[in-house]
Amino acid sequence: SPSDPDLVARARAAKEKLGDKVFVLGHHYQRDEVIQFADVTGDSFKLARDAAARPEAEYIVFCGVHFMAESADILTTDDQKVVLPDLAAGCSMADMATAEQVAECWDVLADAGITDVTVPVSYMNSSADIKAFTGKHGGTICTSSNAKRALDWAFEQGEKVLFLPDQHLGRNTAVREMGMSLEDCVVYNPHKPNGGLTAEQLRAAKMILWRGHCSVHGRFSLESVEDVRARIPGVNVLVHPECKHEVVAAADHVGSTEYIIKTLEAAPAGSKWAIGTELNLVRRVANAHPDKEVVFLDRTVCFCSTMNRIDLPHLVWALESLAEGKLVNRIQVDRETESFAKLALERMLALP
Ligand code: 13P
Ligand code: SF4
Repeated sequence: SPSDPDLVARARAAKEKLGDKVFVLGHHYQRDEVIQFADVTGDSFKLARDAAARPEAEYIVFCGVHFMAESADILTTDDQKVVLPDLAAGCSMADMATAEQVAECWDVLADAGITDVTVPVSYMNSSADIKAFTGKHGGTICTSSNAKRALDWAFEQGEKVLFLPDQHLGRNTAVREMGMSLEDCVVYNPHKPNGGLTAEQLRAAKMILWRGHCSVHGRFSLESVEDVRARIPGVNVLVHPECKHEVVAAADHVGSTEYIIKTLEAAPAGSKWAIGTELNLVRRVANAHPDKEVVFLDRTVCFCSTMNRIDLPHLVWALESLAEGKLVNRIQVDRETESFAKLALERMLALP
């Protein structure tokens, strides 16, 4: 939607009034009307790092989803306040792994006698509780830009990985980047007794993948790749690693949102690209490169509905409230959870 000039002026004025007291982070899936006010934009990894690098900002306004704001709160000082302009901006994938379910899974692994050799690796897209579980059990967080390095690290610590909660990122990284086979991976279904797996299956597996997925990236199919190749000869297919294995296997390039942007910046004029990720980002990339042909991998419109909840009216409300000295929509992780989650996040930040 085009930016309302009145709201644009109000956001600008509130931000000016706040000055250095506020730092606005914008994930690449945010709307244009919001992204124009971001002091920095990035993928999940870059935003976590940048949030931690702003100790002078009293307020961190996070234009993204809940788990990102939680991670920013964990990585910033106790005096800093992280604000999420709409509290309903969650992530359906993060919601697919609850603390209770994961604790139950760990019991199942203990019954199979494998907890001593299993290292949890949790995708950034998870709640602070899951990150705390990960830290407590000697594991690390990863994002789509460092999943291979996180898995390399984990396999130096143990023999198996419990990968939470995105089965696709886990499988794609293991098979595409680490030479494992599909048979090395099993899927733990939290809705089935014992995850739907036998102790023998758990003992034989190298990767125990949680049965979670992203509803946005789940829309892309092998058929969408075949269709676009037939429609646009010479097209380069570039997808996010949250897509299904068969989609990633059929693509030419795979990477995080930041990688997608950088790849298009480096691409020669006249080149053709079909991109499999959230639509705000694909549109922005297409607009930034009128000299290249950039299309959405699937013809059905696909925004991330929770990312899109952060719109200009919500951002204006948050900024104006802060400018008036009213703290709204603070995301605060409790201390106990924070200390263990921080361990896991710091392991990620220390990855080579
Ligand atoms: P990245 O920006 O790290 O690639 O992650 C994409 C995503 O799904 C965030 O929710
Ligand atoms: Fe969650 Fe998928 Fe939206 Fe990312 S794109 S926030 S993984 S639902």
